[in-house]
Amino acid sequence: MSPGKELLSHWEGEPLRVWEALWGVPSFEAWSAVNSTNDRLRELARKGARPFTVVTAEEQTAGRGRGGRAWHSPPGKGLWISVLLGPGASEPRTLTPLLVGLVVARAVEGEIEGDSPVGIKWPNDVMVRGRKVAGVLCESLGESGVVAGVGVNVRQREDDFPPRLRGRATSLESVSGAEVSRAGLAGRIVRGIRELLARPPDRVDGELMRELQARDVLNGREVEVQTGVSGRLEGVAAGIGVTGHLRLRTLEGEVRPVMAGTVRLARGGGA
Ligand code: BTN
Repeated sequence: MSPGKELLSHWEGEPLRVWEALWGVPSFEAWSAVNSTNDRLRELARKGARPFTVVTAEEQTAGRGRGGRAWHSPPGKGLWISVLLGPGASEPRTLTPLLVGLVVARAVEGEIEGDSPVGIKWPNDVMVRGRKVAGVLCESLGESGVVAGVGVNVRQREDDFPPRLRGRATSLESVSGAEVSRAGLAGRIVRGIRELLARPPDRVDGELMRELQARDVLNGREVEVQTGVSGRLEGVAAGIGVTGHLRLRTLEGEVRPVMAGTVRLARGGGA
């Protein structure tokens, strides 16, 4: 670690072991800065860290988003946190990221209670009033499990976002107009992940499916899906399938499962 990247003894005013006990996790690291909390957690996993080990940092100097994009992680403005999931979360690959997104949507809703409903843009962007407030990056460690990285925009004002994100991203405090507790948010996320992903389901149905349907901001919208480097599909989003895939009604009227990809609304709409 380079100078300035310091392991903290306290987080949000309390010793780290207080958070470990409150969240029921084996270990919690908080840093002033790291390159990426996902990278730090991968390092710990290689050294044998136990499932539900948690890493956070005030700032990430090389935060990563999905599809190789950078994730803007300025000091103190957000919650940048990674949680280690056990080997059971490795398969099927579409479901774990979706369920982590669901946990984050619930956590965000808990912190801005009474405000706007919190949606999910498949696979796991968390949306409020048509703008993104949080994202999830799950990275597989093969048979050793999955690193689930969560970034939540908490305190940014519009001009704190880089120009490319203005009008498309927002923060919880901008939405709610009130102070949001990062500790409260982290607790809801970590406990939620522990509860839903200790024994990850291999399909979504029943209550879980009804909740996903209610939060699905793409359903019925015309979309373009970028799959891999060169694949591109167009159609109408037709809900989420039992393995967590996107159901896409193509221009030919056939419903196809999309297992991975980046979705954009075909005409405007900021998604
Ligand atoms: C996305 O929406 O593109 C996913 C963003 C994920 C960002 C989080 S912040 C904590 C963790 N560390 C990273 O480098 N990325 C994830």
